[in-house]
Amino acid sequence: MSALLIEGGKRLHGAVKVHGAKNSVLPILAAAILGRGESVIHNCPALSDVTASVAILEHLGCRVRTEGDTLWVDASQLVRSDVPDALMREMRSSVIFLGAVLARTGEAEMSFPGGCELGPRPIDLHLAALRRLGAEVAERAGALCCTAVGLTGCDIVLSLPSVGATENAMLAATGAEGVTTITNAAREPEIVDLQNFLRSMGARVRGAGSSVITVEGGRPLHGGEHTVIGDRIVAATYLSAAAAAGGEAELTGVDYRHLSTVTAVLSEAGCAIRSTPERICIRADRPLRGVRPVRTAPYPGFPTDAQAPVMAALCTAEGTSVFVENIFESRYRHVDELCRMGADIRVEGRVAVVCGGKKLHGAAVKAADLRGAAALVVAALGARGRSTVTGLAHADRGYQDLAGDLRALGAEITRTEERET
Ligand code: EPZ
Repeated sequence: MSALLIEGGKRLHGAVKVHGAKNSVLPILAAAILGRGESVIHNCPALSDVTASVAILEHLGCRVRTEGDTLWVDASQLVRSDVPDALMREMRSSVIFLGAVLARTGEAEMSFPGGCELGPRPIDLHLAALRRLGAEVAERAGALCCTAVGLTGCDIVLSLPSVGATENAMLAATGAEGVTTITNAAREPEIVDLQNFLRSMGARVRGAGSSVITVEGGRPLHGGEHTVIGDRIVAATYLSAAAAAGGEAELTGVDYRHLSTVTAVLSEAGCAIRSTPERICIRADRPLRGVRPVRTAPYPGFPTDAQAPVMAALCTAEGTSVFVENIFESRYRHVDELCRMGADIRVEGRVAVVCGGKKLHGAAVKAADLRGAAALVVAALGARGRSTVTGLAHADRGYQDLAGDLRALGAEITRTEERET
């Protein structure tokens, strides 16, 4: 089992370029199916979720090749319209392929994406949007079978600003005759990135980043070309690492405006953060201070994906902080492991109280989900002594080279690849 070995308690000092955004490239890879030609995607991160998406694209009949961080997807000929069960199990967010496959082929089949470590992950809003557009959606024995003789533009209102449902509706709407409006759409930067990629394919989409997105569908699309935005959650993770360990870090490759709620919390905790369009610089002298309650919310609110790494940094603070996790039901699975490192965190439902004034110590800890893995690494950097972090398959879904990037920031961290026994 591979593990990260971390010698904590040392100040960081260094610079790193943040890789492309996982939550942007995944819907963009699905959107590539809509193009009757070759799409070129730059700044594509090397993540296991991207590998899983490429496997789905190739299963559907696309030809994919990679050179460095550029990916070519030729979707001229599709030969299937189903996502294999094994690939769905590997990555539940494969549900994002539903709208694109349906728009391109008129049908789509995949197993029902189960829940995940974060709790139940319903897709009722996705399916309601597809039905509004005219799709027949049957749920048979754990499988989703969608057919659409033709999709017709319409007004879709989402009962909550779901990122995935917004993306599936956008992708399906490109194949619908006429105009579709999506109201109460998610406003995340990754939605804007998807719009920009779709536009490069000839799609007429506008409004992404606001709560109302309009798609003029029914036009055949060609291959597009796009550079994926930097990953704001990876950036939040690295800023949290510098806050936890103390020291200075310089991040490039990410738009500082995409993580302003995170930098606001770290500034309140006592970090000095300077941002320009090209870079984010943080200087953290310990100890951190406790902060006012951090409530996760849809963008532009505090991102749920940053809750775990920022909590880890605040475990080292003098004062107490409170988190309220409003997006997912089970997103405190990193808490028990943080407590093994000496943190004092009390969880009651959606509320976690991080009692300050504790000195963290190294420990052997295991990640239970993607951002929880990041949190354990952040805490280990702020802890005195050696830590071992396992459960790295979770981290590999969203971090291209966590150890390498943190070493570039001056961390003492190595990855051992012990053979699976
Ligand atoms: C996306 O997940 C991200 N994943 C998540 O990142 C992120 O945490 C989440 O958005 C929120 O920002 C990708 O983009 C691949 P949602 P998604 O639909 O689309 C409920 C990470 O760590 N809901 O906005 O699944 C849902 O249960 C991952 O990178 C319904 O009830 O999130 C949740 O409570 C984790 N019905 C809330 O909405 C639906 O049909 C937000 O979910 C859909 C969602």
